[in-house]
Amino acid sequence: MQQLFSARADRRLRFGMLAGAIGLGALGLAAWTLARSDRAWGVGVAAPQPVPFSHAVHAGGLGLDCRYCHATVERAASAGMPTAETCLGCHRQVWSVSAQFAPLETALSLGGSIAWSSVHRLPEHVRIHHGAHVAAGVACGTCHGVVEAMPRTVKIETMSMGWCLDCHRGAVAGSAAARAGHDAYTHFGIALPPLTRCSTCHR
Ligand code: HEC
Ligand code: HEC
Ligand code: HEC
Ligand code: HEC
Ligand code: HEC
Repeated sequence: MQQLFSARADRRLRFGMLAGAIGLGALGLAAWTLARSDRAWGVGVAAPQPVPFSHAVHAGGLGLDCRYCHATVERAASAGMPTAETCLGCHRQVWSVSAQFAPLETALSLGGSIAWSSVHRLPEHVRIHHGAHVAAGVACGTCHGVVEAMPRTVKIETMSMGWCLDCHRGAVAGSAAARAGHDAYTHFGIALPPLTRCSTCHR
């Protein structure tokens, strides 16, 4: 049978297919890397807030304790957020002239809570317990960075599952409390260490 395409056209087709395959591969790799980049996880990106607030001014400069505004961090799952009263307790006296505190007065007349934006929010199916970490001696800065130096609050770690597990695997061997929990499980023939079990973090 006679050749339909010249040898040259054949070569061109093969080359084209090869280049296409390499191009697709490179595109896939780029997408894969991008999805895992810090930027894609929102690391270093501040969120707009209803009232301007600076940790650098309040926790850094004024030296206020984290618990002054995040009152439940030692005992509850949630760290807790300041209400309008917490801010106005000081800001009726200092800096009170500024119109930027108007949303606080509005919030107060509606019951006090303010809709702060979160840069750390985990998906619905994941839970974390602040009290358990504080009790185990994990410092705020381990997960949140040097918040007291931040003029605008940003995330410094991805808060991805892999990031949590990196510590939970090590913590099982490291912390005494975690070790005791681990031993209780192995006593009943359960092999998985509790801190890495799915149900530790997933509902
Ligand atoms: C005077 C009150 C006040 C103090 C003191 C304070 N914070 Fe905050 N914190 C806030 C407010 C208001 C927000 C929400 C606005 C923002 O993110 O900047 C916030 C947000 C945060 C967030 C982000 C929460 C999220 O959902 O993404 C972290 C983390 C945090 N604070 C940690 C700390 C740590 C650690 C300290 C102590 C070093 C501290 N804060 C001290 C008022 C305070
Ligand atoms: C313990 C008292 C105290 C509390 C509580 C407090 N502040 Fe302040 N705040 C101050 C003082 C004092 C200054 C002035 C600091 C300076 O000039 O260095 C200030 C400055 C500010 C400023 C102007 C400087 C800046 O950051 O741009 C804003 C805005 C502000 N506070 C918002 C808030 C909000 C919002 C809350 C509640 C989450 C809050 N403050 C809670 C004492 C307080
Ligand atoms: C093991 C890591 C870890 C440690 C340690 C930690 N946090 Fe958090 N924090 C998180 C995560 C993850 C979230 C998001 C929680 C969510 O979406 O349910 C968060 C959320 C917050 C919030 C927003 C309110 C809330 O509870 O959702 C504040 C405020 C906060 N942390 C303050 C602190 C302070 C203050 C400390 C130290 C006393 C601290 N955190 C220690 C991981 C940590
Ligand atoms: C730097 C280390 C570290 C990181 C990072 C970390 N954890 Fe933990 N976590 C611990 C330690 C230590 C404990 C306490 C173990 C104990 O008390 O037995 C703990 C306990 C917990 C508990 C409570 C377990 C229980 O039932 O008592 C939950 C839930 C949890 N972590 C979720 C998370 C999630 C979700 C993340 C990521 C967003 C995370 N942790 C990141 C070290 C860490
Ligand atoms: C130490 C805490 C922790 C443990 C243990 C854990 N996860 Fe997760 N998991 C997370 C966090 C945090 C996320 C959310 C990451 C994000 O923001 O997308 C997540 C997300 C997921 C998702 C959603 C996937 C995605 O990309 O959003 C699945 C599915 C999942 N986990 C399954 C599991 C299974 C199965 C196990 C047990 C083998 C497990 N996880 C154990 C913390 C944990």
